[in-house]
Amino acid sequence: MKNIRLGVNIDHVATLRQARGEEYPSIANAAKVVLDSGADQITIHLREDRRHIQDYDVTTVKAVTTNYGKPLNLEIGANDEIIAIAIDNEPEWICIVPEKREERTTEGGLNLEDDKTFHKIKQTCDLIKSKCPTTKISLFVESRIEIIELCAQMSIDAVEIHTGEYAIAFNNNEDTSEYIDSFSQAKTFCEKKSIGFHAGHGLTDTNLLPLVEKELFVEYNIGHWIIADSVFSGLDASVKTLITIIKS
Ligand code: PXP
Repeated sequence: MKNIRLGVNIDHVATLRQARGEEYPSIANAAKVVLDSGADQITIHLREDRRHIQDYDVTTVKAVTTNYGKPLNLEIGANDEIIAIAIDNEPEWICIVPEKREERTTEGGLNLEDDKTFHKIKQTCDLIKSKCPTTKISLFVESRIEIIELCAQMSIDAVEIHTGEYAIAFNNNEDTSEYIDSFSQAKTFCEKKSIGFHAGHGLTDTNLLPLVEKELFVEYNIGHWIIADSVFSGLDASVKTLITIIKS
């Protein structure tokens, strides 16, 4: 078994719950099934608009992950109210992402080349590290050395590379070699700087294969495909399918 980690994003279990304003499906049960199936961590995104995960879900899921001795990876935008909730819950990982209210899902990496964004993210990383020294931080960014150089100027532990555009190109049977080359170069840079190299967005049982074969990333955070596939296969089986791909 390879030591590559699978983080399962269970936001869409909450999406289904919120669609009816019911108390089911249970996010706590989803987290338990995912961890019982062998996943390495639970990922959730507390969005400013609370479209899926609610504030109380963060506490609930954290209690489950703590009980299993597994990490919680909390994705947040650099919004002061959300940052305060993240700090209160002290997750093992915080992944800082850009967030726009009108987007369907996170659409790209942090624009650290914009001075204002750079300073806000740097300030956020410093605040998190001062209040929760054991929490690790990753930044969700595009696979460009110029951007990752800017990440290296902050107190972070990893970058999570936005794989959404690669995934769409792969799904459309387009040439993905440029994406793979850029991931490979970014990986070499991160290894030199001792920055963890994670991936997330749009990944499925098929577009994951080339990334795993080339041993590009040490962690994959995957949500939409798993929850969609689980409608037919069951959550346990969908998680196990990806574990087999990633680890064997
Ligand atoms: N990583 C980040 C930073 C994300 O914003 C998302 C989507 O919430 C994911 C991973 C999971 O993406 P998907 O649901 O497309 O697998």
